[in-house]
Amino acid sequence: KTYRIAVIAGDGIGKEVMPEGLRVLRAAAGKFGIGLDFQHYDWACAEYYERHGAMMPEDWKAQLAGVDAIYFGAVGWPRTVPDHVSLWGSLLQFRRQFDQYINLRPVRLFEGVRCPLAGKAPGDIDFVVVRENTEGEYTNLGGRIYAGTEREIVIQESVFSRFGADRVLKFAYELSRARARKQLTVATKSNGIALSMPWWDERADEVGQSYPDIRVDKQHIDILCARFVLQPERFDVVVATNLFGDILSDLGPACTGTIGLAPSANLNPEKRFPSLFEPVHGSAPDIYGKGIANPVAMIWSGAMMLDFLGDGAGACRAAHDAIVQAIEEALRSGPLTPDLGGSATTVELGQAIAERVAAG
Ligand code: NAI
Ligand code: MG
Repeated sequence: KTYRIAVIAGDGIGKEVMPEGLRVLRAAAGKFGIGLDFQHYDWACAEYYERHGAMMPEDWKAQLAGVDAIYFGAVGWPRTVPDHVSLWGSLLQFRRQFDQYINLRPVRLFEGVRCPLAGKAPGDIDFVVVRENTEGEYTNLGGRIYAGTEREIVIQESVFSRFGADRVLKFAYELSRARARKQLTVATKSNGIALSMPWWDERADEVGQSYPDIRVDKQHIDILCARFVLQPERFDVVVATNLFGDILSDLGPACTGTIGLAPSANLNPEKRFPSLFEPVHGSAPDIYGKGIANPVAMIWSGAMMLDFLGDGAGACRAAHDAIVQAIEEALRSGPLTPDLGGSATTVELGQAIAERVAAG
C-alpha cells in the first residue's frame, strides 16, 4: 500500500523544519519499503491569505479528499494575519471538520539534553498528554456587549458534550491500560469552574468504571502545572480539556529542555477522516530565516504519523522506532541546534537524523 500524505508547511519555521521532516520520512520509507506519496499544498499560510483574503480555498476539503494523513508545519504570521484568523482559518478547521478529537502529545526527557529542572534524569520525564481537540473552551460562542464603552462586557462560552468528553476519556483510559504504569491523571478545576468541571470529573468517574485496573488521580490544573515542574516523574498519561491540554502540552516539553522537540498527533482514531501530525510549537517568527529551528518536533511527528498509519505494527512501526532511535542518538552525540545549546543548523540536525535512519 502507498500512503498519500498531504504536506502543508505553513508559515515561518514551518517552512524550515518541513524539508527535514520529509528528508527523514523518505529515508525511513526507503529503508523499510513503505510507499509514501507526498502531495504539496501551498495554502493554509499567510502568503495565501495576503493574496486571497482567506487562509484556504473554499474547496479545501475536496482537495484533501482521499489523503491518508496531513503532515503539517505551523501556521501563524501575526505581522499580516491576526492569530485568531490564521488559526481558525486553517488548523482548527482541520481538527473540527476531520473530527480529530484526540490530540496526543508525548513528553520525554532525552539523554544529552540539559533539563531545566534540577536533579531530573531521562527516565524521570516520560509521559503523554491527551488533549481534547474539538470542543471545550475553544469556541466562537459569545460576544461583546456595550462595545467601546466603559460598560463593555465580553462573554466567551465553553461547550462540553457528553459524547465529546466520554470519547477522549475512554481513549485516555485505553492508552493508560496499554502502558506499563496503568495510571491516569485527570486535569480538572472543579473547585473554581463550578459547572463544567464537576461534570467533567463525573464523566471521568463513570467512564473509569470500565477500567478498574487503572489508578486515577484527579488534580486541579494549577497544582498540576506546579507538579509538572516539581515532580514530573508522577505522570504517565494525563488527560485534559482543550485549553488545559494546550497549556500542559507546552509546559511539559518546556520541562524537557525545549519545545523544539515536542511532536503531536491530531487523531481521528476511527480513520473516517485523515489525521494530522504537527510539531507542538508554532511558526516562531523570532527565529525564522536564520535556519536554526530545531527540526526534531517535525521529524518525531512524522514518526507518529507512520505508526498511526500502520496501526502500530509492521514496517511502519519499525520505521517509527528507527526514527525515534535516530533522534535519541543524534541528541546524545550532536549536532545540536541553538535551543539545545549547540550551534548546528536545522539542515545539519535533519541530515544527521536521516543518515542514522538510513544506516540503522
Ligand atoms: P512558537 O511556538 O512559535 O514560539 C515560542 C518560542 O519558542 C519562540 O521563542 C521560538 O523561537 C521558540 N521555538 C519554537 N519552536 C522552536 C523550534 N523548533 N526550535 C527552536 N526554537 C523554537 O509560539 P508563539 O511565539 O506563541 O507563536 C508564534 C506564531 O505561531 C503565532 O502566530 C501563533 O499563533 C502560531 N502558533 C501556531 C501553532 C500551530 O501551528 N500549531 C502553535 C502555536 C503557535
Ligand atoms: Mg499550543
